[in-house]
Amino acid sequence: MSELSSLEQVEEQGRARLLAASSLEALAVAATQAYGKRSQLAALTAQLRGLTPDERRSLGQEIQAVRARLEAVAAERKAQLEASQAQRQARSERLDLTEASSLASARSGPLAEPLSPPAPRGHLHLVTQVREELEDIFVSMGFEVAEGPEAEDDWHNFEALNMPPHHPARGMFDTFYLKAGQPESVLLRTHTSPVQIRLMESRRPPIYAVVPGRCYRRDTPDARHIPVFHQVEALVVDEGISMAHLAGTIEAFTKAFFGPGRHARLRPSFFPFTEPSAEFDVTCWVCGGAGCRTCSGSGWVELGGCGMVDPAVFAAVGVDAERYTGFAWGFGIDRLAAARTGLADLRELLYNDVRFLNQF
Ligand code: DAH
Repeated sequence: MSELSSLEQVEEQGRARLLAASSLEALAVAATQAYGKRSQLAALTAQLRGLTPDERRSLGQEIQAVRARLEAVAAERKAQLEASQAQRQARSERLDLTEASSLASARSGPLAEPLSPPAPRGHLHLVTQVREELEDIFVSMGFEVAEGPEAEDDWHNFEALNMPPHHPARGMFDTFYLKAGQPESVLLRTHTSPVQIRLMESRRPPIYAVVPGRCYRRDTPDARHIPVFHQVEALVVDEGISMAHLAGTIEAFTKAFFGPGRHARLRPSFFPFTEPSAEFDVTCWVCGGAGCRTCSGSGWVELGGCGMVDPAVFAAVGVDAERYTGFAWGFGIDRLAAARTGLADLRELLYNDVRFLNQF
């Protein structure tokens, strides 16, 4: 009887130890203590020898049952501990792909092996690349780079550029008007020329500036026209500036941008804000001059206009036209990009198809 009661204690103690084990190592120790060779359970088994065969059998069966139950408790506890260890491991090995944490782990040590190849990196749009290259070319020639607003008023976009209300030349610019102020008083600039006015309003000559930027016209898109396009304006105002300076600067720019192989020409033209005026053409980059759809069969494509600043423009901004002369131009950046890359249709620049953009 005393053995049975101490067997109950042994089982209770053993169970408590096993359940209290907080790691697999601690569990192994608890199992040895509960039913190992030197355990009290083993000691009780040893005492069986001194008993009668009947007592031995029944107590022996009791001891086996206790051992089996303790082993079952140990197995269950082992499974619990293994599961929580696996969870802990998974948590510590988890790849957190949010930006903040990858920055944090990049700072604190080597990153875990990526699960998939890194996402491909993008690059600047062709038009932005060309714009930056133009800025570099003109800065190297001594120009500064200026900017102006895309939402303009009638004064800067038209009137100060010698196009008073109802002037027929306004018809060249199919204008998007904005719902602001008086009707048709605020618009999306149709060219970068209004920044000439802003430059001359804000400072005195000498001025040597280029102005890249986005422009808008209600043009029906086709191979050579897109309603949102880019220009690079130039404005030089100083004493003694002549048409020869204009021609020489365009010549230097053409060589720097296209290299020696490309022909350019100046063709007499008309703009209200320049006198005399010219248009700047390059050999068609699609047909090489033979005539095709891109150049409407002429063999040349117009890149922009230029000329000597009209005295009426100087008068509008209070520059002394007796003392100063100047030249200006406005070239299409999208067309320059097309001319450089052989692009037959400017609309491609707006579709944002990565298969197209990746080529540049
Ligand atoms: N602003 C004109 C256009 O968009 C281009 C232009 C012509 C700009 C002559 C100039 C210039 O500065 O002098 O059609």
